[in-house]
Amino acid sequence: MRPELLQTFDELVACYPEGKEKSAILPILHLVQKENDGYLSVAVMDEVAAYLKIQPIEVYEVATFYTMFKLKPTGKYVLEVCQTGPCCLVGADGIIAHLQNTLGIGMNETSADGLFTLRGVECLAACGTAPVMQVGDYYCENLTPATTDALLTEMRDGTFFARMERENGD
Ligand code: FES
Repeated sequence: MRPELLQTFDELVACYPEGKEKSAILPILHLVQKENDGYLSVAVMDEVAAYLKIQPIEVYEVATFYTMFKLKPTGKYVLEVCQTGPCCLVGADGIIAHLQNTLGIGMNETSADGLFTLRGVECLAACGTAPVMQVGDYYCENLTPATTDALLTEMRDGTFFARMERENGD
């Protein structure tokens, strides 16, 4: 791990009471995932375990429980489409089928150009603007096949994240 990253770990751990240092595992794993090309390999999870002085299995348990952690390399854009009831009632299945057809991939697969990985996730807590897809830190809501295509175009152009940051004041 880079010294700067370890310093950030130290700052995170300092936010928790003595004896509860391992509670910093979630923010630490987010940072590590970002540093490690968007996924958590066994090697980096073992490094986190060593840093937090806990067993590797404790890190694996957390990393495999939360869908925001990826355990293998993904495309540049991870398209996480909500497939829970309320989204399905207003067309999530159709959005998923449209993405599969357009990108030529199935669920949990990555497109040949390495740009897109498609995943199904459970409720994203944005049922009021269903169907919803999460891409990185951002939500794409009220999806239709046409708006989904427009989003894919932005992603291919490399303008998607810049627009989302602008619109979300990031
Ligand atoms: S069911 Fe899709 S966001 Fe809640």
